[in-house]
Amino acid sequence: MKDSDCGGVPSFRFGVDYYPEHWPRERWAKDAEMMAELGFNTVRLAEFAWSRMEPVEGKFDFSWLDEALETLSKHGIKAVLGTPTAAPPPWLVKAHPDILQVDAQGRRKPEGTRKNCCAVNPNYIEHTKRIVEAMVLHYKDNPSIIGWQIDNEFDVNLCYCENSVTAFRSWLKEKYGSVERLNSACGLVFWGQEYGSWDEVFPPRPPFDMQNPALCLEWHRFSSDAWVNYQRLQVEIIRRHAPHHMVTHNFMGLYKELDYFKLARDLDLVSFDYYPKWSSKTDHAASAMAHDVMRSLKKKPYWIMELQSGAVKTHLAPIPKPGEIRLWTVQSVARGADGILYFRWRSCRFGAEEYWHGILDHDGAPRRRFSEVKNVSGELFRIAPFFEKTFFDASTGILLVYDNLWAWDLEVGYGGENYYGMSAWEPVLDVYRALYKRNILVDFVDPFTDDLSKYRVLFAPSLLLLNDKLEDALRSYVNRGGVLIATPRTGAKDWNNNIVDSPLPGRVSDLFGITVEEYTGLPGGEACEAVLLRQKVFFKARNWMEKLVAEDAEVIAEYSSGIYRGKPAATVKRFGKGVAIYVGTFASSEFHDELTDWLMRMGVAEEVLPATLGVEATRRKGEGKEVVFLLNHKEEAVEQNLGGKVFRDLVSGDRLSGTVRIGPLDYKALAPG
Ligand code: GLA
Repeated sequence: MKDSDCGGVPSFRFGVDYYPEHWPRERWAKDAEMMAELGFNTVRLAEFAWSRMEPVEGKFDFSWLDEALETLSKHGIKAVLGTPTAAPPPWLVKAHPDILQVDAQGRRKPEGTRKNCCAVNPNYIEHTKRIVEAMVLHYKDNPSIIGWQIDNEFDVNLCYCENSVTAFRSWLKEKYGSVERLNSACGLVFWGQEYGSWDEVFPPRPPFDMQNPALCLEWHRFSSDAWVNYQRLQVEIIRRHAPHHMVTHNFMGLYKELDYFKLARDLDLVSFDYYPKWSSKTDHAASAMAHDVMRSLKKKPYWIMELQSGAVKTHLAPIPKPGEIRLWTVQSVARGADGILYFRWRSCRFGAEEYWHGILDHDGAPRRRFSEVKNVSGELFRIAPFFEKTFFDASTGILLVYDNLWAWDLEVGYGGENYYGMSAWEPVLDVYRALYKRNILVDFVDPFTDDLSKYRVLFAPSLLLLNDKLEDALRSYVNRGGVLIATPRTGAKDWNNNIVDSPLPGRVSDLFGITVEEYTGLPGGEACEAVLLRQKVFFKARNWMEKLVAEDAEVIAEYSSGIYRGKPAATVKRFGKGVAIYVGTFASSEFHDELTDWLMRMGVAEEVLPATLGVEATRRKGEGKEVVFLLNHKEEAVEQNLGGKVFRDLVSGDRLSGTVRIGPLDYKALAPG
């Protein structure tokens, strides 16, 4: 099927996650009527309803779901069905307690909840196949169904059960062939841990700071693959019986324990569960980055499968302020989503999420949040023809390699402190924040499968691990004219997570024209001064400093205090037709801001509109259309400079030039001319 098509229904999907099984049947018709009032055309159903669909092993009952679908279809509402495998029914756990994961201390995970099963357990796999096949056979010809969500928010949850241990051994055997090769590739001679046979091999257990980092990375890779494979076996069943249905999974934005590029590969589209207010403070750059990562997994329009529509636990994240739900909705479209479903329709009266609020409160009455969704619905459907078949077009990229994020988080010594005092996303966020602030559109790029030549600028934030392919990709990208910016620890390790035996940055030393003479951590918030020489812009060197030797590169910044005072902190080299920049410290924002301005002056990075504090500007383009979105995240009005261009406000119809006023938590959707 075509990704944007969803079985012949309009491409903009708007709706909600609905749990009819939580409410009396008599209420369903009213729910459907109220959903129609909001313009909803899609619901997601059944992702935790295994015990209702198969109350007793082998006895399926879809009658309640058929009836719910029928009720919804009277209002033109279609459905995405969730396969219910995240929540095993009690009879299954009773019959096969071995399906429950085992933690690192050897304890089985508790029953009576969700996300507690082991991805490689044969009983879980067999019962997964049965329920998925039964659902697909029952629903493949039902015109209300447009697609499937596999399971729900896969988590890696490292499992130490016997099946996992056996599967891990087979995975290693397949990769290395012999224990001798494994021993040597992982450096197991350290602390005398060389294996003599496969049955001596066990997955490393926390605390990982006392374990072999190479084997820890392999354990993580195995565990991520286990869920990718588990998803695939469900996808295959759906494709076999219902090839006309779209298949997705609901991803978790900046969750990083799973290789999301691999997980996305088997799907038609990515959907994202977007909870911008998970804590009382929202980091707008991180929220936008989560969208950009999600969109970039397939470089295609994505959906929001769960958009926060109420307080998530009242004490953790307060209720969205008036305007926020509307703004997050438009933001999702602005960053490339073509489908938005809110979580959840009505706040549930019982269960572990009794305070996870939906559009309706527990009593089912429509109040402020309902009205807000109604407003944005009207606006969205008015502007939908302008953004239909358009997409986010970025020419700046940030390389994203999940193995590298895992390796980064394994950079811990005794006591478990990260060597850099930073979690794996922080080096990425450092570069992203500057681009976000300047309204530069960014894609996250998989160097193994994406075409790098599409990007005029590529950031490689702290690519600790390099292998032949990655090295070649970087080298040929610059050689052919790209601008590459790398930050500390690039190339410090090989693909097995062992430190390289050549001067750093290892195999890419000649690409950047430098070596790292010495390095040091800056613990406890200590920072040194550094300066961009030509611009005389001072910045802070934080967390980590590398003393660079510019062998064949120009020094663009040097340290101005600390033990590396007067020594190079950042360099630039022309390589082939391109430019390779190396930054040897985690530079504060002044550096990244100046670097971004320089990229803009060079004409290799382009802003959508001039930066205004608190305003997020994006653009969607395609089929001769263009829409610029301006989102004011501030609780006061702002004046946005339109950069000398003339626009039409797609909601009000007004023609705009010069500057435009955007109200508090308000937005503008504009078309040129
Ligand atoms: C996740 C899950 C949902 C629900 C919400 C609560 O995103 O997918 O089932 O638990 O969180 O906010």
